[in-house]
Amino acid sequence: MSIKIHPDAITALRTFSLPEKIGFGSTISPVMMDCEYKDGNWGELEMVPYGPLTLSPTCKVFHYAQEIFEGLKAYRINNKGPFLFRHIENFKRFNQSATRMAIPELPEEIFMKAVEGITAYSADFIPGESGSSLYIRPFIIATEENLGIKPSAKYRFMVIASPSASYFSSGSLKVLIERHNARAFTGGTGAAKTGGNYAASLSSSVKAAKLGYMNTLWLDAENSKYIEEMSGMNFFAVVNGALVTPKLTDTILAGITRNSIITLAKNLNIPLKEETINIDSLIESIKLGECSEAFACGTAAIITPIELFGEDDGTTYKLKHPIGPISKSLKENLLAIQEGRMEGPEGWIKTINPATY
Ligand SMILES: Cc1ncc(COP(=O)(O)O)c(C=O)c1O
Repeated sequence: MSIKIHPDAITALRTFSLPEKIGFGSTISPVMMDCEYKDGNWGELEMVPYGPLTLSPTCKVFHYAQEIFEGLKAYRINNKGPFLFRHIENFKRFNQSATRMAIPELPEEIFMKAVEGITAYSADFIPGESGSSLYIRPFIIATEENLGIKPSAKYRFMVIASPSASYFSSGSLKVLIERHNARAFTGGTGAAKTGGNYAASLSSSVKAAKLGYMNTLWLDAENSKYIEEMSGMNFFAVVNGALVTPKLTDTILAGITRNSIITLAKNLNIPLKEETINIDSLIESIKLGECSEAFACGTAAIITPIELFGEDDGTTYKLKHPIGPISKSLKENLLAIQEGRMEGPEGWIKTINPATY
C-alpha cells in the first residue's frame, strides 16, 4: 500500500518554515493524511496540504460526537531519528476506542502508513531541543450527512502533526481534587479516547483555573472517593518508597506512558502497586510525610510532578518534594529512551527514514 501524494502537498512542504516560537499544538505541519470510509470500506490514503475541511453541518460528528483520536510523538534530538515511540500501542488503543464508539476498525496498514508517513514528511520541522517533538494526532470523524441518531455510514480518518515544545512550561502542577463533577462512569466511555470525555472535563478546568490550579484530579463517579486520573494524564504517587497508581478500570484511559513507567519501574527495582487509591487516605499520607511524591504522566506531559493538591475551599496539601527522586529518575530514563539516547525495551522505538519516502 502506498500513499497518494497530492502535488500541492509537495509545494506546501517546500514553502513551509517554522515560526520562531512554536509552543505546544499550535504550529502545524504543512501536510496532513486523509482517508475516507464509505460503502463499507476504507479507501485510499492521501497526503494533502494542511488546511480547512469542507463538511456539511448535518455531519453526525457535529451532533452526536461520534469521533475518536490518538496522541503520540516522534523525536528528533541532535539530528538522530525521527523515532516513533510505541506507536503500535496507539494503533491498538485507536481501534479499541473505535469499537466503543461504533466506528469501523481501521486497518493497521493505513494507520501505520499515515503516522510513519507524516513523521517522514515532517522530519525537517521536528525541533531538536530535549523535551520537544513532533506531536502526532490521528483522528476519525463521522461524516454521514444525516441527523438520524445512529452510527454514521461515512467517516474520515486523518492525521495532522504539530512540531512542539514541552507541554508544560512550568515545572510542576497544582491540582484541584474534583469532588462534585465526574469525568467517567462504569459502563461509559472513560476508557476510550473520544472527544466527549474531554468536553465533560472542561467546566472543571475552568473552575480549577479560577482557583489557581492547573489541572483536575478525577475521582470515581459512584463514591467520589477513589482516584482515577487527570483530564489528559494518568496519576502516580510515591507512598513509603513504593510507586502506586490506580488499577485500570473502564473509567480510566489506559495510558501508554503509564504502561511504560510500570515497565521501567520494574526494571529499576522500584516497588510498584496498581491498586484502588482512596483520596482521603492519600491526603493523610501526604500530611504524615509518607506520600513524598506525586506526578501526572502522558504522551504530552511525559512525567510532570505535582507540587500540591487542593480543594474548592482553598485547603491545600503540599508534597514534600516539588520533584522527587523517583519521579526524576523515571522521567530521565523514559525521555532518554524516547529521544534515542538510551536503549529501551524491545519494540519501543521505530526509526523512520525520510529518504525512503
Ligand atoms: C484522559 C487521559 N488519560 C491518560 C492519558 C495518557 O495516555 P498516554 O500515556 O497514552 O498519552 C491521556 C493522554 O493521551 C488522556 O487523554
